[in-house]
Amino acid sequence: MDKGKLIILVIVAILLLYILTVGIKPWPAEKDFIKEGFSKEISLFNTYCIQCHIDDNDYRAPSLKNGQWPLLWKDLDAAHLRVIEGYKGMPPRGDCKNCSDEELFQILEYIKAYQEGI
Ligand code: HEC
Repeated sequence: MDKGKLIILVIVAILLLYILTVGIKPWPAEKDFIKEGFSKEISLFNTYCIQCHIDDNDYRAPSLKNGQWPLLWKDLDAAHLRVIEGYKGMPPRGDCKNCSDEELFQILEYIKAYQEGI
């Protein structure tokens, strides 16, 4: 085998190895969101909202993984207002006193993206 063919063979082998090990590895869902720029929202949600919006909770608050978020889909602005003002067991601003209105809105967009992505 001449040198040129050997080099091509090695390159193909390296590419195949890369595709098999790195290329087709499924990303965990959370990593996708970080890639899409939701890292701040994830951190805020996991600090404040998750206290109640956790899987198998006693607060009757929907969770990211298996919750129903009817208002979020029906009327995003109303859901936003509900978080700002508080509702039932949810304290005003979802307990994140330092979150701006815009940050709260972005968390809602993260929740929607999460629901859509799974
Ligand atoms: C102390 C508990 C608690 C915390 C903290 C909390 N929530 Fe809630 N949340 C609730 C409860 C209880 C409901 C009402 C569920 C129902 O009966 O509709 C609710 C409802 C909601 C809804 C409306 C759901 C829908 O679509 O119908 C949204 C949106 C929401 N919360 C977002 C947030 C966000 C964002 C945060 C964090 C910034 C947060 N919550 C923090 C308890 C909490």
